[in-house]
Amino acid sequence: MNLFGRHFLTLKDFSREEIAYLLDLSAKLKADKKKGINGDRLKGKNIALLFEKPSTRTRCAFVVGARDEGAFPEYLGKDDIQLGHKESVADTARVLGRMFDGIEFRGFKHSTLEELAKYAGVPVWNGLTDEYHPTQILADLLTMKEHFGKVEGLNFVYIGDGRNNMANSLMIGMTKLGVNMTVLAPKTLWPLKELVDLCEGYAKTSGAKLTISEDIDAVKDADVIYTDVWVSMGEEDKAKERIELLKPYQVNIDLMNKTGKESTIFMHCLPAIKGYEVTEDVFESAKSVVFDEAENRMHTIKAVMVATLGKGDDK
Ligand code: CP
Ligand code: NVA
Repeated sequence: MNLFGRHFLTLKDFSREEIAYLLDLSAKLKADKKKGINGDRLKGKNIALLFEKPSTRTRCAFVVGARDEGAFPEYLGKDDIQLGHKESVADTARVLGRMFDGIEFRGFKHSTLEELAKYAGVPVWNGLTDEYHPTQILADLLTMKEHFGKVEGLNFVYIGDGRNNMANSLMIGMTKLGVNMTVLAPKTLWPLKELVDLCEGYAKTSGAKLTISEDIDAVKDADVIYTDVWVSMGEEDKAKERIELLKPYQVNIDLMNKTGKESTIFMHCLPAIKGYEVTEDVFESAKSVVFDEAENRMHTIKAVMVATLGKGDDK
């Protein structure tokens, strides 16, 4: 498998086999790190980390992942550079592309990311946009694989804001890899039809089932219950209406019990606002694997950088 030189903008651009390869590479890099072995697969590479929005996990995953493999990360926050204000995105991309070997971008518009990718001339990686958060999905899939030994055939229920970057990206990733995906949300927050249609196609190919529902009973038989904040970065003005709308969709002990399976796990991309989308007792319970997911952000992001920029496993 050769992903050298590729951008990582959404999982739409990656086949099931390519995603599986990234997960295998992540597991190998994780095992190596646990043994105290770091590589030089990114030796001498300079990596720009552009952040219009704040971040704990993604920023630290890129920094640590890059350093572990010999690269030099440089953080460029929203007030540090002129991106989109005094200098166009295309010009910024061409300047950074002359100096850096790879560029991560976290921000608002997905089109900004696409423009960076168009002009940079080096791999561009999505660290989250309003529409997609694909590196998070790799971490989630790796966590599920570690926990269940496989992902294909699992029943995955995402509950909450069915229209945000997490819902969109989980739908793509799960249906591509043969995971039965349910989006459980009030109708006004259902995913957009165009993306549902696309994911129906992925599901058909992989043998998965995609369900969109507003009925809480849809959690029955879930192996994974996953939620995200009710108010994403950039939509703070919607807080009041979202809380009202999503209250019935809180992940609490009653909801976890409704799956009918003792083995159901709880997942969340974090940061979590406890008492809203999830109760403290579920978050802290033995069923919660949220910190495994958080750690796996680093191993999977490292794998994306190694595969697209470095000496991969088979190069
Ligand atoms: N899950 C995630 O992307 O976390 P951060 O916002 O802290 O990067
Ligand atoms: N939907 C959340 C994800 C955070 C990782 C947000 O965009 O704020």
